[in-house]
Amino acid sequence: MTQNLFFTYGDRWKVLRQNLTPLFSSSKMKNMFYLVDKCAHVFEDMLSNELKTDNVQEVRPLMARFTMDVIGSCAFGIDTNTMARNSETNPFTKIGCLIFSETFYRGFKIAARAIWPALFYGLKMKSFPTEADEFFNKLMMGVFAGRKYKPTNRNDFVDLILNWKEKNYITGDSLQNMKGDDKKVNLEVDDEILVGQCLLFFAAGFETSSTTLQYTLYELAKNPEAQEKVINEIDEYLQRRNNKLVYECITELPYTEACFDEALRLYPVLGVLTREVVEDYTMPCGAVIGKGIRVHIPVYHLHHNPEFFPNPEVFRPERFYGEEKRNVKPFTYMPFGEGPRLCIGKFKLQKVITF
Ligand code: HEM
Repeated sequence: MTQNLFFTYGDRWKVLRQNLTPLFSSSKMKNMFYLVDKCAHVFEDMLSNELKTDNVQEVRPLMARFTMDVIGSCAFGIDTNTMARNSETNPFTKIGCLIFSETFYRGFKIAARAIWPALFYGLKMKSFPTEADEFFNKLMMGVFAGRKYKPTNRNDFVDLILNWKEKNYITGDSLQNMKGDDKKVNLEVDDEILVGQCLLFFAAGFETSSTTLQYTLYELAKNPEAQEKVINEIDEYLQRRNNKLVYECITELPYTEACFDEALRLYPVLGVLTREVVEDYTMPCGAVIGKGIRVHIPVYHLHHNPEFFPNPEVFRPERFYGEEKRNVKPFTYMPFGEGPRLCIGKFKLQKVITF
């Protein structure tokens, strides 16, 4: 699982990023969107069923089951059935709980990897348990073999990744090229690299998306006025679009989007971003940051700083709505990171809005 873009660095990261970026283009995502729509219908049915037995529902597992199903469908090319009844025994639900459980040990591992990587690797700690690697490896090898290592017409991420197999390698620029070199780097396309990229959605997209949905709904539950506005906006949208969910919805629901933005401000999924300095760097003020130093950017603190966001503990989506959005100062709000390692999912969304 750690073979994917999220965990790599240096030239290997650069080549993967260059080759993955086109796969996240708006046209590719649009082609895949029918799969998300299908999952949304299954979600509606699940919710109606669950409400028959209990009209109080905990949002957290519901959102995790929905997100897992979307990822299964779009990234693994399979039906996970996580929204069927008795999902506690579903292998995908179990693996999600195993990896993303909120335990002290997991918290310690995340902090240790960011602050003392030598200790983390020295103690042979792993970001993901071996069972998860084995589970997904077996799963994806079965999916690839089922498609005979050739793209189908499903238009999912597995198809896009299998296109890499046409040549036996992918090519990209070396990081040194930023200094004027013109060195190309090849990466061999083996099973490990293919499986790793499909798992990217799970490793980087599951907990992030699921938690964001959970916190947005939690805040809407506490803020009935905002909730009302979201409901009205969605109702109007559905009326306009003949009750159909289409890909363009992400640009047609600005208030709903502002609610997600505000939830991500209050609860950024990655509260600290870490960068390692690869060579000595002199700042404009003259201070030198030496090679090997790890810089921790306090995203959570920036998002909660009253200088940038007055009354920071209050959920107020209007901060990200209409003209007021322009008041957000660059680099004070970074729920998707910043710079060349910006979330590849975010990159996509920006492009849709710009073009
Ligand atoms: C609300 C949902 C999401 C949030 C809040 C989020 C947030 C983030 C953040 C904070 C980073 C680190 C950026 C940095 O270091 O500057 C990141 C990286 C990344 N995210 Fe997301 N993400 C989300 C959804 C997704 C999804 C659905 C995918 C699908 C594949 C994804 C793929 C990635 C990848 C591959 C990286 C690593 C990029 C790189 O290192 O080049 N993310 N994300």
